[in-house]
Amino acid sequence: TPRVFSGIQPSGNLHLGNYLGALKRFVDWQAKDVESIYCMVDMHAITVWQDPADLKKSTRELCAGFIAAGLDPEQSILINQSQVPEHAQLAWIFNCVARMGWMQRMTQWKDKAGKNAQNASLGLFAYPALMAADILVYHATHVPVGEDQKQHLELTRDIAMKFNHDYGVDFFPVTEPVIEGAATRVMSLRDGSKKMSKSDASDASRINLTDDADTIAKKIRKAKTDPDALPSEAEGLEGRPEARNLVNIYAAMSEKTVDQVLADVGGKAFSEFKPMLADLSVSKMAPITTEMARLMQHQDEIDKILARGSERAREITAPILRKTYDIVGMVAPA
Ligand code: TYM
Repeated sequence: TPRVFSGIQPSGNLHLGNYLGALKRFVDWQAKDVESIYCMVDMHAITVWQDPADLKKSTRELCAGFIAAGLDPEQSILINQSQVPEHAQLAWIFNCVARMGWMQRMTQWKDKAGKNAQNASLGLFAYPALMAADILVYHATHVPVGEDQKQHLELTRDIAMKFNHDYGVDFFPVTEPVIEGAATRVMSLRDGSKKMSKSDASDASRINLTDDADTIAKKIRKAKTDPDALPSEAEGLEGRPEARNLVNIYAAMSEKTVDQVLADVGGKAFSEFKPMLADLSVSKMAPITTEMARLMQHQDEIDKILARGSERAREITAPILRKTYDIVGMVAPA
């Protein structure tokens, strides 16, 4: 059976890109009745400095968001990365398998470290090796993510193949990235050439899962568009990144294809389409926001869910790590 793994960083608010590109698709996977593990990657978050109190709050909020969006903590295993030590332990092995040159080619590293790479943390550089360990310590076969994680997943495959080759084994599976749906790359509401991101200085560029209905409606009303009406076919979105983005969001949220959406709304002006999109967004997001806030009142329950999740996770990860150590030649405790 397929084993699905994915992770989200608990650093700041969840936004619509995280929701449509990742979280909503985790919920879709859960309906397929596969074994799945979803992770708050706090160890990835600290590759850039996080305020400790904020990190704890964001981790719990992310867990609340997972559950509010529809993940069932009985069916899926929900974990906080630092509570399952095998992730970090396998990451060390992978640090010794991956090559400096591979890491240097990562666009996220180049973007985040920028011109000041000498001052970036060593963890930020090694980030993709920890991500490979997250996935491979479960022998996960499917990893649903947004488009921006594609290169990291290719590196995960390279690490698995090099490990297998270097040790002459067929141990780690070559993982399938699952990047599908209309919203694998949700763009900023202010600039159709930039992806929606929690690090954008403008809060109007994104819809946060914690935004209330009025804020959501206002952000959509103010979203950048062009003056033309909506086309009736997907080709008509060529060269219109802002229009394409809003249509993609509508499609993902209504679980239709872009063509189906355009068959309905083609010919409409944005002044007519935007309120439709706002209503749809509010009707999908508001229940999640409300439930997240309710769950945050029960912190002890969230903490219990994470503790129970890591217990279940370690039943999978401990034997895989043990076997890895043996393959590498580490002497096991007597
Ligand atoms: P992170 O926390 O940046 O993002 C979490 C998920 O949201 C997706 N995403 C988007 N999708 C569509 N449009 C957007 N604008 C958008 N912004 C973010 C991301 O692609 C991701 O799926 N390195 C990962 C976390 C991670 C992980 C893993 C993922 C750590 N270990 C193992 C999968 C498997 C990250 O920083 O995602």
